[in-house]
Amino acid sequence: MELKELGATGVMVPEIGLGTWRYRGGTRPLRAGIDLGASLIDTAEGYGTEEIVGKAVSGRRDRVFIATKVSGRDLGHDRVLRAAEDSLERLGTDFIDLYQVHWPNSRYPMKETMRAMETLIDRGLIRYIGVSNFNVDEMEEAISALRNNPLVSNQVIYNLNARGIEEDVIPYCVRHNITVMAYTPLDDGSLADGFRTSSGKMAALEEIAEETGKTTAQVALNWCTSGENVIAIPKSNTLERTVENCGASGWRLAPEQKERLDGAFERDW
Ligand SMILES: NC(=O)c1ccc[n+]([C@@H]2O[C@H](COP(=O)([O-])OP(=O)(O)OC[C@H]3O[C@@H](n4cnc5c(N)ncnc54)[C@H](OP(=O)(O)O)[C@@H]3O)[C@@H](O)[C@H]2O)c1
Repeated sequence: MELKELGATGVMVPEIGLGTWRYRGGTRPLRAGIDLGASLIDTAEGYGTEEIVGKAVSGRRDRVFIATKVSGRDLGHDRVLRAAEDSLERLGTDFIDLYQVHWPNSRYPMKETMRAMETLIDRGLIRYIGVSNFNVDEMEEAISALRNNPLVSNQVIYNLNARGIEEDVIPYCVRHNITVMAYTPLDDGSLADGFRTSSGKMAALEEIAEETGKTTAQVALNWCTSGENVIAIPKSNTLERTVENCGASGWRLAPEQKERLDGAFERDW
């Protein structure tokens, strides 16, 4: 498993992590992923999966990087502190590696939310601060609201069919040492084997899968992580697909293959 630096923290995280939205696979797939080096697990207070993540990492907490999120519904100072404590309880751990604001919410001053995030760092309850679904203006606001800590990541949708962040979010993140965590990297499974095989886009993906001896899911994930600051967090309920998704790392698409995919999957702007 290839590793990438989280922001400019010096901490290395795997380029393929494990998503858990609508996850119903029990502990086995997550543990298999951890054993294969996909040791970053993403969850959220809103997913209802923090307990199963806690169970899966029990006995191997020191090898796992846990990322969870406070819901964007209420980002008031005290509520953020309470939400983190509740997540810790459900995860059965005494610290969260990466705590992310799930959605921006302009009803709450960014300064207030980020003050709570920094308090959590000061108390040793979280290690790093991240955001999710933030545009460039919102990231700028978050960065200026933080007093003593960097913004290390932004979790955003990114896959061959959803490339809007290439325009401004990715370049901004590169300039500011922010890791892009690509969510829905398989476009909810539609980029994996057996789906929409009739489309021209899928034909290009299948052609490159054939050339590389990989599956279309592995090619789609490798395309995502070909950006220097991009990691991806596919979700699978099954052990077999989790193992397959981990096999998206450890090799690289040739630049020409990446260009061919870029061309086949037109940008949506
Ligand atoms: N921050 C946010 O707002 C936000 C929003 C959405 C998602 N996320 C995060 O990103 C993670 C991943 O995104 P996602 O769950 O939306 O979509 P995804 O990972 O793109 O796709 C998941 C779907 O693909 C299928 N799949 C996975 N691997 C496969 C493979 N190798 N071959 C065939 N099918 C495969 C899964 O089915 P099986 O489970 O049956 O294998 C599932 O139906 C989430 O779990 C969550 O952690 C964050």
